[in-house]
Amino acid sequence: MTQPPRVFITGGTKGIGRAIAMRFAREGALVAIAARTSDDLDRTVAEIEAAGGKGEACQANLRDHGSLEAAVFRAVDFFGGAMDVLVNNAGLVEFAPFDEVDMNSWERFLGVNLTGPYHVLAEALPALRESERAHVFNVGAALADAPEKDSVLLATTKAGLAGMGRALRADLADDGIRVTTVTPGFTDTPGLEPWRARFEGRSLLTPEQVADAIWDAYQGGTDIAELSVG
Ligand SMILES: NC(=O)c1ccc[n+]([C@@H]2O[C@H](COP(=O)([O-])OP(=O)(O)OC[C@H]3O[C@@H](n4cnc5c(N)ncnc54)[C@H](OP(=O)(O)O)[C@@H]3O)[C@@H](O)[C@H]2O)c1
Repeated sequence: MTQPPRVFITGGTKGIGRAIAMRFAREGALVAIAARTSDDLDRTVAEIEAAGGKGEACQANLRDHGSLEAAVFRAVDFFGGAMDVLVNNAGLVEFAPFDEVDMNSWERFLGVNLTGPYHVLAEALPALRESERAHVFNVGAALADAPEKDSVLLATTKAGLAGMGRALRADLADDGIRVTTVTPGFTDTPGLEPWRARFEGRSLLTPEQVADAIWDAYQGGTDIAELSVG
């Protein structure tokens, strides 16, 4: 690769997203990260720069289309007009029996896990088209293909994201834009912390394992619909 990759990562301040940000930073990448919490954004940008990358904080809420539009605009400006990698990573991990799922939680999950990535991609597409090796990674979940108890919100939205990814591969192939759904197993992140008891005795992935798989796929030019990790 001649020039450093220009990568935009939603949820880049914690867990899997932060590990992806640091993996690309170690390669000297330009790394723009989006999340809601500004202190976390500033801290992570400093860590990106200490690791050898260049960082940019793009505050946004996945449930607020206007803030996503502004965040992508800021990232593309930071990149100088083209985006090589979009990682739609931010998303919810929660468990609830179907009887306890209500319209509020249903819409919250759809908003963060499905509509948010749609808006981010729609805003980022012109900049991805300016790249000569664009790759979109949507972070799904292995659970979408192997649901377990209390997972209807997670399994439904991540299956939707995987379906969107498969359809996008057909739509964006002529532009040379690769689209891959990453499907990690359960991973030791802050997001999983409230569910620690549920995972007692089960082995978890590290966020770095997921980040390494994404980096390897990007730098190897791997064009696959699904990247399973774990
Ligand atoms: N952990 C697992 O076991 C697991 C397994 C399979 C798939 N996944 C998927 O992997 C992805 C990352 O999960 P994780 O466990 O690493 O998450 P995490 O530790 O909870 O981190 C979530 C990140 O997303 C940001 N975020 C959350 N809600 C947001 C919103 N509404 N708008 C903008 N940013 C938001 C958070 O920052 P702010 O709170 O500051 O916004 C944070 O940077 C998710 O899509 C998840 O569904 C996770």
